[in-house]
Amino acid sequence: MATPLVAAAGTCGVLDELAEVSDLRWLGALTTKSLTPESREGNAPWRVVETRGGMLNAIGLANPGVDRFVQSEAPRVTGLSCRVIGSVAGHSVDDFVLVAARLRQAGLQALELNVSCPNTADGRHFGGDAAMLAPLVRAVRAAVPGCTLLVKLPPDGDTVRLAAAAVEAGADALTLCNTYPAMQVDPETRRPSLSRGTGGLSGPAVHPIVVRIVHQVHREVAGPARVPIVGLGGVMDWRDAAELIVAGATAVGLGTVLMVDPAAPRAIARGLDAWCHRQGVRQIGELVGSIRN
Ligand SMILES: Cc1cc2nc3c(=O)[nH]c(=O)nc-3n(C[C@H](O)[C@H](O)[C@H](O)COP(=O)(O)O)c2cc1C
Repeated sequence: MATPLVAAAGTCGVLDELAEVSDLRWLGALTTKSLTPESREGNAPWRVVETRGGMLNAIGLANPGVDRFVQSEAPRVTGLSCRVIGSVAGHSVDDFVLVAARLRQAGLQALELNVSCPNTADGRHFGGDAAMLAPLVRAVRAAVPGCTLLVKLPPDGDTVRLAAAAVEAGADALTLCNTYPAMQVDPETRRPSLSRGTGGLSGPAVHPIVVRIVHQVHREVAGPARVPIVGLGGVMDWRDAAELIVAGATAVGLGTVLMVDPAAPRAIARGLDAWCHRQGVRQIGELVGSIRN
């Protein structure tokens, strides 16, 4: 990847809409919206709301469905100035295998299994239970040999155990993490702000939680197994990104920040470059997991 920055699933459009407002060359990769076998409308409004320190969303995996994506979007993948990770979601192992295989056939070289969306019943159970996650990862692994396979885990629950199960089953990399289940209530109406009631918290509020998870997973699972981590949660500037790298992330995901400032990847990539110079290293990889006790 040209830079260690990855645009996070669902925060930059279905494929390359971000290119209208931001130069994709500052990204190492972008992640597609999570795709399911069928097209989905998602949840009713309101499905996005600001909170102190971040935002809540309950989009509910609105997406065009994998077939329409393959037909109308996938042909542009090879012409983009960053790599593309296809995000895969579904209700069952068969759904995940079908979506992954279609995306692979369409030429995508990296896929991320979204087993951690808090806003639908679908797929979420796979990320809540290591015994269910392992067969899913194994099945997709077998269906897309040679493809780089990332597994995106939730921040609530035993992430270390889930990470170990995913790696054991054949994951090439881990994305840590999805949003944190949360809720906002309007005291006047006494109703939840989101139509679905609860949603997923993202942005600065989750950042320290994700730093802790990346540190633990790197120390206990990913470091020894030499499996890269994409650290994702609340990165708003280069310092947040650098923190995740020191904690053990090889790459850094950007989500909510893209909605605040779509041009943020440039400033963050430049800030990381200057940080590497100050740290006296030639490659940012030398700083991965370099935390001092
Ligand atoms: C509006 C919105 C939509 C999202 N849609 C998806 C999605 O389709 N698939 C997925 O894996 N994660 C999705 N996410 C989660 C993000 O990819 C990311 O894990 C999360 O926002 C934490 O990163 P951040 O704090 O940098 O935003 C979504 C997040 C937001 C805010």
